[in-house]
Amino acid sequence: MKKRVQEIIDGVEAIYVGKRPVVEKLLTAILANGHVLLEDVPGTGKTLLTKLIAQLCGMGYKRVQGTAELLPSDILGGEVWDMSSQSFRLVKGPVFTNIFLFDEINRVPPKTLSALLEVSEERQVTIGGESLKMARPFFLMATQNPTEFEGTWVLPEAQVDRFLMRISTGYPRTIEDENALLKRRIQWQSDDPSSLLKPLLDAESLAGMQAHIEKNVHVGSEIIHYISTIVRATREHPKIALGASPRGSLALLKASRAYAFIQGRDFVIPDDVTYCAIDCLNHRVTIKMDFEVEGVRSHSIIGEILGSVPVPRERTTRPEARDGGV
Ligand SMILES: Nc1ncnc2c1ncn2[C@@H]1O[C@H](COP(=O)(O)OP(=O)(O)OP(=O)(O)O)[C@@H](O)[C@H]1O
Ligand SMILES: [Mg+2]
Repeated sequence: MKKRVQEIIDGVEAIYVGKRPVVEKLLTAILANGHVLLEDVPGTGKTLLTKLIAQLCGMGYKRVQGTAELLPSDILGGEVWDMSSQSFRLVKGPVFTNIFLFDEINRVPPKTLSALLEVSEERQVTIGGESLKMARPFFLMATQNPTEFEGTWVLPEAQVDRFLMRISTGYPRTIEDENALLKRRIQWQSDDPSSLLKPLLDAESLAGMQAHIEKNVHVGSEIIHYISTIVRATREHPKIALGASPRGSLALLKASRAYAFIQGRDFVIPDDVTYCAIDCLNHRVTIKMDFEVEGVRSHSIIGEILGSVPVPRERTTRPEARDGGV
């Protein structure tokens, strides 16, 4: 299983240059069965990354471009009048797929977005009084530009909380990465080589990996306490108006276990938690207005919290279940 996970990461990296941590985090979210929000400035490869992951995961995927005119029925489907039979016919929307790539989510009207998030949670859609089950697994991978960009708006706290992680893609870090990106373009002879990749997973093998994580990746009591302490610190920080909810603690637990699995371990170490904390929590805290206008951002406050919370001593072997862990 570990080999397969590394093959997927390498497969994405063959095209998407210099962003291994971003790729690992996206895969972490998939293994933790959570939705992901990719946020960054235009042209940093958000769309490319989601397409590559979807292609390598070997599951059905559909993509929708978010616009201000998008209606709930454009996503969910609806009833259309069929001239030949003189009756309404049910048409399923693009949300009936395994991986739903939703570009520019913060340009969509609130009504459309809340309809999408509602069905993502309930995993079923009601059209014309009929309840239709959605595919399993179902992942929402949404992209957005930072909210300072024109035509975008801030997603309400209750909506953004539905995402397991909010990940930033970022510019290539070094000039070598920038050069490699250009060389790969010449090598692949295409702006979008995602369709050239062969799938390495399918819905069944992914479900097998998820079940393995649920059953076998151990979390010690000191790790549970570490997660709780970090999350509680967000609720008490003087610059934070609204701290992370228990949904945030659960997200950090799930992501840490999935990341431990990616690293080839069957137990979580403090580093797994630290590594996932900013992406699991940064969209769940609201900075007080006074500090927000001064440029204080949630990821730096969570970084500060991580620096002040005592880190449990690291273990190098799987702890025994009797220590109060699970
Ligand atoms: N790290 C990278 N490695 C390889 N190619 C990249 C990388 N970052 C960006 N690109 C390339 O840059 C182009 C723009 O990327 P993409 O369309 O995915 O950006 P985006 O973040 O979705 O932008 P927008 O916010 O405007 O939708 C694509 O051709 C993509 O292949
Ligand atoms: Mg895009």
